Amino acid sequence: MAAHPYRLAVEVHNAAYRELGIDYTFVYFGITDPEEGVRAIRSLGIRGMNVSMPFKSAVLPFLDRLDPAAKAIGAVNCINNREGNLTGYNTDYIGAMNALEEKVTLNNSQVALLGAGGAARAVAYGLVNRGALVTVFNRSVDRAQQLADDFGLEVGGTLESFPGKKRFTILINCTSVGFNTPDECPIDGTSLYQGLIVMDAVFLPVDTELLKRARSAGCQTIQGVRMLLHQACGQVELYTGHEAPIAVMEEVIEREIRKMSV
Ligand SMILES: NC(=O)c1ccc[n+]([C@@H]2O[C@H](COP(=O)([O-])OP(=O)(O)OC[C@H]3O[C@@H](n4cnc5c(N)ncnc54)[C@H](OP(=O)(O)O)[C@@H]3O)[C@@H](O)[C@H]2O)c1
Repeated sequence: MAAHPYRLAVEVHNAAYRELGIDYTFVYFGITDPEEGVRAIRSLGIRGMNVSMPFKSAVLPFLDRLDPAAKAIGAVNCINNREGNLTGYNTDYIGAMNALEEKVTLNNSQVALLGAGGAARAVAYGLVNRGALVTVFNRSVDRAQQLADDFGLEVGGTLESFPGKKRFTILINCTSVGFNTPDECPIDGTSLYQGLIVMDAVFLPVDTELLKRARSAGCQTIQGVRMLLHQACGQVELYTGHEAPIAVMEEVIEREIRKMSV
């Protein structure tokens, strides 16, 4: 089940299976009924299915099992069919952690997490499990509080409350601000400072306004496409049992995102 744009996942997965020499074909189904979607996996014997927003939580009641991480996050982005047994997994958190860990050690890091939706929940789960100390900022403070209660985080307040002081080592944007809106930034750029590592979960455009402002302020940056790439690798590994061909997948993601950006 996927919302538009879906072509990216089709191209990336099929490139991975070709490279691995595995006879799988990844196709897009425009299913909008989560129960029917899961039933189709069973009746058609589909090997695995990706799930995107807004269905990541809606499919949960129809699965046989949840991976412990997916259970804690409360959302799945893929369903693995093993002999008719359907298990839900969340590779968004794996994608985010792998993207971060390419640049930074997370244990004991002080992280400002912007957002309290599905992506923020996945990222919060991964960070807490790696020993990071997380403060959440969100437009709706009650949702920030709920996320903080679920994962043992601090609440920093609204997005405007993000302090321009050097309290944090990492800032992660998990709001949807900036998605397909290249001029929008979730926080005031003047609150960014040298030494901060800034990751944006938003991957379209690849270089968001937040990342541009962060680089101008002397921050290291991590693009949302790194998270996207690593979460897709996690899915390929679940479906095939083989290490994902990351170089090939990266090339295809870059090519497809370029097409989506024009
Ligand atoms: N790179 C990747 O692999 C990857 C994976 C998953 C998601 N993502 C991206 O992450 C972003 C969030 O996805 P999601 O699934 O978490 O969405 P979601 O569950 O709908 O959550 C959206 C979040 O953005 C906030 N928000 C939305 N519009 C806002 C605005 N105008 N001003 C301030 N805050 C606003 C919401 O705040 P409220 O709580 O106040 O509504 C909420 O915290 C999307 O852009 C998505 O594409 C990337």
